[in-house]
Amino acid sequence: MIIGIAAVLLNAALLPAFAQGAGQAARPAPTGPWMDKSLPPDRRADLVMEQMTLDEKLGLVHGGSAYSGQATPQPTQSLGGAGFIPGVPRLGIPDFQMTDGRSGVANTGRRGRYATALPSSLAAGATWDLKLAYEYGALLGKETRDLGFNVSLGGTANLIREPRNGRNFECWSEDPIAIGKMLGRALKGTQDQLVVGNINRYAVNDQENGRQIYSANLDKRSLRETDLLAFEIAIKESDVGTVMCAYSKLNGIYACESPYLLNDVLKKAWGYKGWVMSDWGAVHSTVPSALAGFDQEMPSGRYFGDALKTALEKGEAPMSRLNDMVHRILRTEFALGIFDNPPSAHPVNPFTGAEVAQRVAEQSAVVLKNANGQLPLKAGVIKSIAIIGSHADVGVLSGGGSDQVDAAGGNPVAGPNPVTGRGPVWQPSAPLKAIRERAPKAKVDYDAGTDPASAAKLAAASEVAVVFVNQHTTEGRDVTSLALPDNQDQLVSQVAAANPHTIVVLETGGPVTMPWIDKVSGVLEIWYPGIRGAEAMANILFGSVNPSGKLPVTFPKSEADLPHPVLPGPPSAPPQPAPAAQTGAAGQGGGRGQTPQVPFDVNYTEGLKAGYKWFDAENKEPLFPFGFGLSYTTFSYSQLKAAASGQNVTVTFSVRNTGKVAGAEVAQVYVSLPATAGEPPKRLVAWDKIQLAAGESKAVTLTVESLYLSIFNVDKDAWETPPGEYKVLVGGSSRSTPLSEIVRIAAAR
Ligand code: BGC
Repeated sequence: MIIGIAAVLLNAALLPAFAQGAGQAARPAPTGPWMDKSLPPDRRADLVMEQMTLDEKLGLVHGGSAYSGQATPQPTQSLGGAGFIPGVPRLGIPDFQMTDGRSGVANTGRRGRYATALPSSLAAGATWDLKLAYEYGALLGKETRDLGFNVSLGGTANLIREPRNGRNFECWSEDPIAIGKMLGRALKGTQDQLVVGNINRYAVNDQENGRQIYSANLDKRSLRETDLLAFEIAIKESDVGTVMCAYSKLNGIYACESPYLLNDVLKKAWGYKGWVMSDWGAVHSTVPSALAGFDQEMPSGRYFGDALKTALEKGEAPMSRLNDMVHRILRTEFALGIFDNPPSAHPVNPFTGAEVAQRVAEQSAVVLKNANGQLPLKAGVIKSIAIIGSHADVGVLSGGGSDQVDAAGGNPVAGPNPVTGRGPVWQPSAPLKAIRERAPKAKVDYDAGTDPASAAKLAAASEVAVVFVNQHTTEGRDVTSLALPDNQDQLVSQVAAANPHTIVVLETGGPVTMPWIDKVSGVLEIWYPGIRGAEAMANILFGSVNPSGKLPVTFPKSEADLPHPVLPGPPSAPPQPAPAAQTGAAGQGGGRGQTPQVPFDVNYTEGLKAGYKWFDAENKEPLFPFGFGLSYTTFSYSQLKAAASGQNVTVTFSVRNTGKVAGAEVAQVYVSLPATAGEPPKRLVAWDKIQLAAGESKAVTLTVESLYLSIFNVDKDAWETPPGEYKVLVGGSSRSTPLSEIVRIAAAR
């Protein structure tokens, strides 16, 4: 596999046009007082703006692509990423070269360049490891820059409210604090590589079905305490340079023209200094958008090109607003080093990427079931293993749409679409090969799993059966059901009936149902695990890595237990066709996937009860709860103490590894607020991932800041920490909290 990557790298080095960063390399180094690095970014922005003409300013507030029906040719100096905006060469203002990137730099392979396919963001979320989240983001930033881009489009702070959302694999968690902290670290990592980061899709774009026409409706308190809290924390932790407003409407108003979202909350309440760019084709107006606090239309200038100029000239929007847009853009570029250290394109080193990708995959795999110590498998003892299904002979699955990282050397599985040749992309990291390498004495055979009877026959003749199953998800299309598609439930059932030692490996974009759970002996969730996914998976199966991933999302028993048993859509939505594209820039209108034409409402009446909070409040037993994951060792918790200091709480406790092997535990702290707060039963407020040798114990101290203990008072338009008794709960999952303690918080003075 590494040889394959090296070949791609070598090929990449032979592509001079791309490697030179198209038109950019020839430009002279910028001069002017604004190039004085000792000046603050705001001052530098003011100085360069003094020199800019109106047209130069307008040129920065919209993308440089043609919109549909417009004759303008695509700019030649674009590197071909998702977005491009020409700079102002006479003033040294660089071109914006934008590329998608959540789980790696997207869509570079089709231009002959290699980028590391990291595990999906949801997998990264399952590591619960803040340091690793930083490394994940840093690798993304480094490769973005290595490939000549200066803006990275992504991470997603959207909450997993809807388990059928086609983009859940791009999300980090169903919990706002977990998202905020993990994504915040990742974005910091990205920006520390001197590229502008981005957080998207602001806000409540929590399903794909009808994303350009539905209105997500959510009451203000729930909004601030759930979906917006994730953005608030991530922005605060990372100082991210750009916020991407979503396609959808929020409470009846398009996100990119919502004064509440943009001016009131983002810019005023949170003091955000960066700029707001649109999702691709998500702008619907000129003046209302400009006045609402929107700053940059992508990927073209339908509303923020000539139309904005006319509106400014007529006085319909003040010139101060344009100046504010441009100031935000330039000050961010100065603050993040884009003027001073422009990227120069050169080949990516795939070996560093593979190393980070493998560590994330190893830390993110979640063992959901391990009956009778079936795992880890004992390589020296097992004589035969059946490997079944999901193209495990050639690769591991990845998610589709704008987050698609191209497969190094090409997709090893021919696409089912006869016209485009495209389909789900498998990353060339083959489970069959990885398992053979770890069990060299065993007979390891493969069955494609397309015929359950044939697979069951191989399973019956083998000591252990490992069945790989998948759920492909993509931008532009939600899944209609949480059941595994393509008869895979039947496959697992028949294999399990043939062999009592059946282990199921899930490659999914989010939760799935498991009607066969009682019949199999092991279940391992590896998400979309990236370019070293198979190697990581095999290390877990054979115990050279002790699993430590925990679920960042609840797995329900069935859709009937969800707040919305049926995926919201228009009353008579036609069945959705397969997504139109897994291409690069979506063009005007954001054309990934089809959407129904009749506008509709998605009423999140469950409000605060998103994810596990719904299951707790409604007394529903999930299949696997939020925060759950097994290890090959065991842990015990003791000595909890919780003390308030003002509106903050400090929690100390001890965790011991009570088993025989070293392992890591994600120790989680939840809090139940006083009854007067009117909150769901508990919320996650802190966690730590603790490495422990066999028999070792460690004391853990975590401080919970007051925001995480607060509720949003809509009348006062402010956060407040209600005085009273808070119950602190500590343990290894949201449904396993052996320690608890009451702490009293006094009224704020
Ligand atoms: C997606 C964004 C992406 C953009 C550019 C849109 O369809 O929603 O996440 O950044 O395309 O590719």
